[in-house]
Amino acid sequence: MSSQLKDNQELHELTMFRALLKCVCRNSAAIIYYLALIVFGLLVLNARNLNYFLDKGSTCKFFNAEAKLERDYVENIFQQAQVNSIHDVTLVTQLTISRVGRLEQVLDKWKGPVSAAFHVDESPNDVIQAICDNKVLSNRNNLYIHLMRKTGRLYPINQLRNLALKCVSTGFSFLSDVDFIPHQNLYNESKQIVSKNIEGSKKRAYVVAAFGVQEAKGTNKAKAVEFPESKEKLLKLWDSKMIEPVHFAKFIHGHYQTNYTRWRNATEIYPIQWYTHYEPYVIVKTTETPAYDGTFIERYFDKVSHIFHLHKAGFDFWGIPNVYIVHMPHSSSKKNMSRYLRCATLAYEEFVAKLDPIRLKKKQ
Ligand SMILES: *[C@@H]1O[C@H](CO)[C@@H](O)[C@H](O)[C@H]1NC(C)=O
Ligand SMILES: *[C@@H]1O[C@H](CO)[C@@H](O)[C@H](O)[C@H]1NC(C)=O
Ligand SMILES: *[C@@H]1O[C@H](CO)[C@@H](O)[C@H](O)[C@H]1NC(C)=O
Ligand SMILES: *[C@@H]1O[C@H](CO)[C@@H](O)[C@H](O)[C@H]1NC(C)=O
Repeated sequence: MSSQLKDNQELHELTMFRALLKCVCRNSAAIIYYLALIVFGLLVLNARNLNYFLDKGSTCKFFNAEAKLERDYVENIFQQAQVNSIHDVTLVTQLTISRVGRLEQVLDKWKGPVSAAFHVDESPNDVIQAICDNKVLSNRNNLYIHLMRKTGRLYPINQLRNLALKCVSTGFSFLSDVDFIPHQNLYNESKQIVSKNIEGSKKRAYVVAAFGVQEAKGTNKAKAVEFPESKEKLLKLWDSKMIEPVHFAKFIHGHYQTNYTRWRNATEIYPIQWYTHYEPYVIVKTTETPAYDGTFIERYFDKVSHIFHLHKAGFDFWGIPNVYIVHMPHSSSKKNMSRYLRCATLAYEEFVAKLDPIRLKKKQ
């Protein structure tokens, strides 16, 4: 019964189809009409995608043009005397004057040299005045401040990092970000660790474990947590989920390879395998360190590309025990950059292909 019904239906459909075909074939103009109808329908359905496509072109043009802008800068504005020691480590960072409070906190924990590039939106005189009026900043004799004048609209994060890095006079650099507060022993510990590798033939990047204050679910607001002064306190905060390895909730690849489980109990440096999208904060030999790629502007792949470059340049990654940095929450004033994610992704693919000719070959 049911099979008969099915046959009948099939027959019915077939007849209908033939009839349709016949009448369509009779008039080739109808084919064009139907085709036009289909194309129009697809266009309407995809109007949003199409728009996005058309927009992507101009969005990325803007994104790429921003990266190519020439920017004025001044190095070491206070003509601070250089340290020039191959055994020393300089903390390298970049910021705007609105983040100067964070820099104070960093300086409080890190007594070694600091090279900081400021992005100057306001009048340079106002920024210089604000720095001079700041007791913590003006009392340091190993703080190297550089200014880059704002040009264009986006924050040239990697160009600022390059400015700060190029002004380092010590053998080693700790490539950090200003929102990360270091453990007070990090400076001393890192000097000891690099001292064992001054003449080492292997290129090494020492990874500093990075933590972040957990955001309360749904509120997009970070929980109020005090900076953990000791590893013991940090572990307690971690166990009570107030603090976690940085960005584990948002983007686990960035720091996963650091192996925080291992770090917890580590008493000696331990090897880390590089993996795609790894972006730890590292201590490296200054002269061996490649510059950042200025194409990556404001955010997305800015550190991932640099760490990939270190990996391709033959650096091994090593985790260091006992010390850490913690990203302290701040009111997020960041621009919505999500429309540039595609542009940055394309730029990253190009960057990888440049450093990785084998992959380029495979692709072609
Ligand atoms: C770091 O080392 C210096 C000299 O080696 C010492 O004077 C200082 O107290 C140490 N600081 C910390 C926080 O251990
Ligand atoms: C992390 O370290 C532990 C040993 O402490 C090891 O068993 C584990 O495989 C490591 N994980 C990764 C991802 O390397
Ligand atoms: C770390 O050490 C603690 C004891 O101090 C132990 O209970 C725990 O299993 C260790 N974890 C790992 C991953 O070895
Ligand atoms: C950012 O902008 C995109 C559109 O360009 C939008 O879809 C997204 O919701 C915005 N995100 C935030 C956090 O405002």
